[in-house]
Amino acid sequence: MLEGIREFARALKASRYAVALTGAGASTESGLPDFRSKTGLWKGIDPVSLISMSALRQRPVEFYQFYRMRFSHLWGAQPNPVHKVLAALQREGLLKRLITQNVDGLHQAAGSPDVIELHGSLRECACLSCGRTFPSQLIDVPVETAEDIPRCPECGGILKPGVVLFEEALPPDAIEEAFDAAMKADLFLVVGSSLEVGPANQLPAVAVQQGGDLAIFNLTPTFLDSRARWIFREKAGQALTALAEELGISV
Ligand code: APR
Repeated sequence: MLEGIREFARALKASRYAVALTGAGASTESGLPDFRSKTGLWKGIDPVSLISMSALRQRPVEFYQFYRMRFSHLWGAQPNPVHKVLAALQREGLLKRLITQNVDGLHQAAGSPDVIELHGSLRECACLSCGRTFPSQLIDVPVETAEDIPRCPECGGILKPGVVLFEEALPPDAIEEAFDAAMKADLFLVVGSSLEVGPANQLPAVAVQQGGDLAIFNLTPTFLDSRARWIFREKAGQALTALAEELGISV
């Protein structure tokens, strides 16, 4: 039994309002690379120079070639035990809110309801001019020159992925819901996030400031480790599978 899972399972069953925040580490076991670990997407890349609003406007070909690579990973990805166990905890009423920084839609694919998507979703794309949204297949196209940049079928404006780019504000409703959940949380789980990016990384800190307990399921250290009552350094799929077994929950 993973050290501490039994105690954590007892705390989860006794909790009034448990909340989870997931990051890219929740989807690596589905074959999707994360950003900041040794094999992450940001290895040798300054993300702000690549996936920001300025990058979309000034270097659209490079921008779209990056997203074409993202889509190539994404379309075949399936939920892994992390997504499945978190969805099961929601079904059992043990997890009240699920907040994600991920844009891959795998929590929803695993059956999680009401997922708070802080950074948007790659499922859709949006027109920079008229704001209309379309399925992402419209922008999953080869882009070799500026003429290939995908444009809005309605107004001809440039299309962008439905994700929050650097230099963009996060969806206000998602932010409000996420901080509301963190304020209510008496138990907060961080699963697969370096907690390097705000404002998402403030959510567990808010929960701890309100007196909540913190559990971190992450392969590498985070700035909040010293505030965590539990830290699981195993792969999150393995730790959450052990948690489901301890709780007697079928996934
Ligand atoms: N189990 C547990 N932890 C894992 C696993 C795993 N199987 N795989 C990776 N990790 C950990 C890594 O050690 C890393 O600390 O997950 C963390 C992922 O951190 P990041 O790559 O920084 O991803 P994330 O925290 O989601 O980044 C936040 O940054 O670039 C932006 O918009 C992007 O939403 C993203 C945000």
